[in-house]
Amino acid sequence: MAAELKLLFSRKEIAETVARLAQEISVDYADKKLVLVGVLKGAFVFLADLVRQLTIPAAIEFVRIASYGAKKESSGEIQVKKDVEITLEGKDVLIIEDIVDTGLSLTFLIEHLRAHKPASLKVCALVDKKARREVEIKVDYTGFTMADGFIVGYGIDFNEHYRALPEIFVVD
Ligand code: IMP
Ligand code: MG
Repeated sequence: MAAELKLLFSRKEIAETVARLAQEISVDYADKKLVLVGVLKGAFVFLADLVRQLTIPAAIEFVRIASYGAKKESSGEIQVKKDVEITLEGKDVLIIEDIVDTGLSLTFLIEHLRAHKPASLKVCALVDKKARREVEIKVDYTGFTMADGFIVGYGIDFNEHYRALPEIFVVD
């Protein structure tokens, strides 16, 4: 596989976008008990950058969910591979996701976390592929929106490749 990568979002665009999101979140959660729940693995770079720009305290948790297979698209069959390690009851939970595509993964995760009875539960996604949505989902904080296309870099992979790239590319 000799994939061709085309630059989509530069370091500067990403940095500006992450700073904007951090500012919005810092204002909105100023007097809340914020817990960021990062969705492994794709959101690890985004979460690391975002948390260092927040001006308010935040607890960090991770979940890993997986749909079966190594396809470019969700199969819709999703399971929890790694769960949060604290109770989220009464906390203000913000899911930190790399990409919302069909919305199936997040729908599953929201339902899963809602069982904890958090005080609030919202979603922050770096990239929203709105046009590809199969189930309706409210993304409360959106970094970038894009049309169709498969992206890699900045934590996001294609079969575990390209996560370490500092910018976001479209795979041709
Ligand atoms: P959804 O369940 O279809 O919304 O899929 C969301 C998940 O699929 C994301 O969190 C990613 O892990 C993965 N995904 C969707 N689009 C891409 C992409 O363009 N590149 C890499 N992973 C993607
Ligand atoms: Mg993901």
